Parts: sequence; structure tokens; C-alpha cells
Amino acid sequence: MIGAATRLAALVGHPVGHSLSPAMQNAAFEAAGGDGCYLAFDVVPGRLDTALKGLAALGALGANVTLPHKEEAFGLCDWIEPSARLVGAVNVVLFKEEGLWGYNSDVDGVRGALAELSPSGGRALLLGAGGSARAAAVALLGREFSSLAVANRTADRARRMAGDIEAALGRQTVTVLDWKRFHEEPFDLVVNATSLGLASNPWSGEDLTRLVRSLRGAPLLDLVYRRGGGTELVEAARSVGSPAVDGRSVLLHQGMRSFALFTGCGAPGEAMRRALEEGER
Ligand SMILES: NC(=O)c1ccc[n+]([C@@H]2O[C@H](COP(=O)([O-])OP(=O)(O)OC[C@H]3O[C@@H](n4cnc5c(N)ncnc54)[C@H](OP(=O)(O)O)[C@@H]3O)[C@@H](O)[C@H]2O)c1
Repeated sequence: MIGAATRLAALVGHPVGHSLSPAMQNAAFEAAGGDGCYLAFDVVPGRLDTALKGLAALGALGANVTLPHKEEAFGLCDWIEPSARLVGAVNVVLFKEEGLWGYNSDVDGVRGALAELSPSGGRALLLGAGGSARAAAVALLGREFSSLAVANRTADRARRMAGDIEAALGRQTVTVLDWKRFHEEPFDLVVNATSLGLASNPWSGEDLTRLVRSLRGAPLLDLVYRRGGGTELVEAARSVGSPAVDGRSVLLHQGMRSFALFTGCGAPGEAMRRALEEGER
């Protein structure tokens, strides 16, 4: 029950009304028996600094930061964990005596979802070059994958991402492929970090077909998720014998790391998974 000692954890973004994080994090507080609650705040661009300082002054445990504020949050933090530094974005902020500490639980989200696929390493293909693709690249390069091929509709954006990651790691690890030719080479894992597959941005039949044909049994992680079931890409991958996981798993594992950071306790994963499933209905 909410009382005088209840501690707040928050989501700040714009918009936030669609988010499943409040249902997932409040279920976690309940299951873990912790005296905390999680609220979402719609913070318009230009007000992030004020919002984070306000939460710090209120003694909040921490905050998840979502679009469009993740890069700005990076710039506001006094200390940043190494993987968030590689991504160049922060989506968890803790309010410490020493100032704002920044983390990137999107990287952990991708790592957790990848663990469900148990990829055996080798060479991975990453589609996309936006914020999520950066988190996925850091997750992949930190695991069994020592090298990565990236294909993005806008090749310049892929080259910029590859350059930033290689500069941060101090080694050459990323090859940029032509978007129209990513199907020509075999890979040991494929990760979709584009927004293709959202209801507002459906796959073209041609892109989907050549991607699925190129899998040749390799596992697939689709960062996209849709309410109530697997994505078109996940279903197509499974239909040709590739193990496939969608973005709900990324969301869950991202939330589990966030909860652990907020509370210092292990996250109750099953309760969080159930809350996500119920929230989708
Ligand atoms: N599961 C989770 O927890 C989670 C978390 C975050 C994001 N996501 C998913 O990941 C997606 C990407 O997020 P983001 O933040 O990285 O978005 P973003 O920065 O807007 O990037 C979008 C990416 O999609 C590509 N794209 C868009 N339309 C395309 C098309 N018609 N053909 C080919 N490529 C296209 C863009 O290519 P260009 O550079 O050419 O525009 C870019 O690489 C989101 O839409 C969301 O579904 C999931």
C-alpha cells in the first residue's frame, strides 16, 4: 500500500501514454514486497533537466528515460556506465549523493533476449542504425560476436554508427553493407533494429522475403513487438525453421535491469512477464 515511506521510480518521455513499463514495474514492486511505486510522466523536450532535478529533490529511487530524451540524459549525467558510454545514450538515471548516474538497460534487454536464442557466435547481421541499433550493436559485440555487419536504408547513418562504435572500442569490428544486398552473405544471427514491422511501418513483401530467405536456419531477434503476439518477421522466420524472439523479450529484460538498478534487489522476472502479457490485452 502507498504510504509516507513509499519511494518513487519514474518514467520520463514524450509521449508515455502507451508505455507498458508502469504495469511491469509496479508488478515487480508488488511481487518483491518493496515499498515503491512507478509513475509515468510526459516531459516535453526542453524540460528534461528540470524534471530530473525535481525527481532527485523528491528522493526518487531513479528514472527510466525514453524517447526523445535518451541522448540528452547522457549529457546530463555525472557518471555513466561503460556500455551506455558506447551507445551514447542513457535510459536509466539513478539519483546519487554524487549526482546523476546513467545506465543503458536497453543493452541488457538485447543481451537477455539473445540469451533465449543461445546463438553460438560467429558473424551477426544488424539491420538499422538508430538508437536501438546502437544498443544492439554494443550488446552483440560484448557477447560471442567479435564482428558485425550493419545494413541500413540510409547508408551514411550506418557508417556514422560504425565509426562511433569502432572509435569507442578502439578496433575495427563493423562492416557496412548495402541495404539492398544484405541477403547475399550467410550470417550466424540476424537482429532487426529497424522500425519495420510496426503497424505504422509494415515490411515491403520484397524486403521481408529476401531477409527470410537469407536466414538459412540462423536465429533471429526482432526488436519490434506488437500487442498480443509475434511480429510478421518472427512468424516468417519460424516458418522456415529459424528460432526467433520478438521485442517483448527485450522490453522485459530491459525492465528487469532497470528494477535491479532502482532497488538493488533481483527483479521478479515472472511477475514482470505476466504483467506485460496482461498489459497487452
Ligand atoms: N523491444 C523494445 O524494448 C524496444 C526498445 C526500443 C526500440 N524498439 C523497436 O526498435 C525500433 C527502432 O527504434 P529506434 O529508436 O532505433 O528508432 P529510430 O532511431 O527511429 O530508427 C529507425 C530505424 O528504422 C529504419 N527504417 C525506418 N523505416 C524504414 C523502411 N521503410 N525501410 C528500411 N528501414 C527503415 C531507419 O532507417 P533510416 O536511418 O534509413 O531512416 C532506422 O534505421 C522501434 O520502432 C521499436 O519498434 C524496441
